[in-house]
Amino acid sequence: MDEVVFRSPRRKGRIAVFLSGRGSNFTAIREAVERGAIDGEIALVLSNKADAPGLLKAREWGLETVFLDPKLFASREDYDRAGVGEVEKRRVDLIVLAGYMRVLTPGLCDAFKYRIVNIHPALLPSFPGLHVQQKAIDWGVRFSGCTVHFVAAEVDMGPIILQAAVPVRPDDTEDTLAARILVEEHKIYPEAVRLYFEGRIEVRGRRVFILEPGA
Ligand code: GRF
Repeated sequence: MDEVVFRSPRRKGRIAVFLSGRGSNFTAIREAVERGAIDGEIALVLSNKADAPGLLKAREWGLETVFLDPKLFASREDYDRAGVGEVEKRRVDLIVLAGYMRVLTPGLCDAFKYRIVNIHPALLPSFPGLHVQQKAIDWGVRFSGCTVHFVAAEVDMGPIILQAAVPVRPDDTEDTLAARILVEEHKIYPEAVRLYFEGRIEVRGRRVFILEPGA
């Protein structure tokens, strides 16, 4: 078996959520934090969209928020460096991408290796990219689903932490399939963050192993 390249820390974690849109995954994670299922706190919600509903919700809930306006930065590298600054200022352990519609630069990925997770609404490595529910329907797959994975420099490609499958029905539209997948997203994303701060995620090669409690 490949050697261990990473083991998640067992600690009360400081979480940064990056989002660009409605923030339903953010909401699910916040709920898990609130009810104590995740041993952690949301230290920052950062967005590239001033009016992202998720950002507005975070503000209403009294969480610390940052809007980083892409127009104010000369390059993607500069933008991500500013993001790293915001995250480091708050001693964040884990960056949770929740509908964050920007591709991260290699600089950010490297600075936070095994400390950035993402959720994707398909069973990776099938259907990376955008509009993947429609792509799954068009391809005729019988099952699709969602994937929580570590973020690597290559888009939608890091080690897979959790997945959930849902059936694709003959009469599905992009919206009905997306809704069915979203129900599962809201289960496995908080679950992955919980496991992370229980110190139960181990990476060997590109495979992730979920360790028994107390292992
Ligand atoms: C989700 O479908 C997620 O899988 C994808 O972007 C969408 C975000 O939705 N990465 P929300 O903002 O969490 O509601």
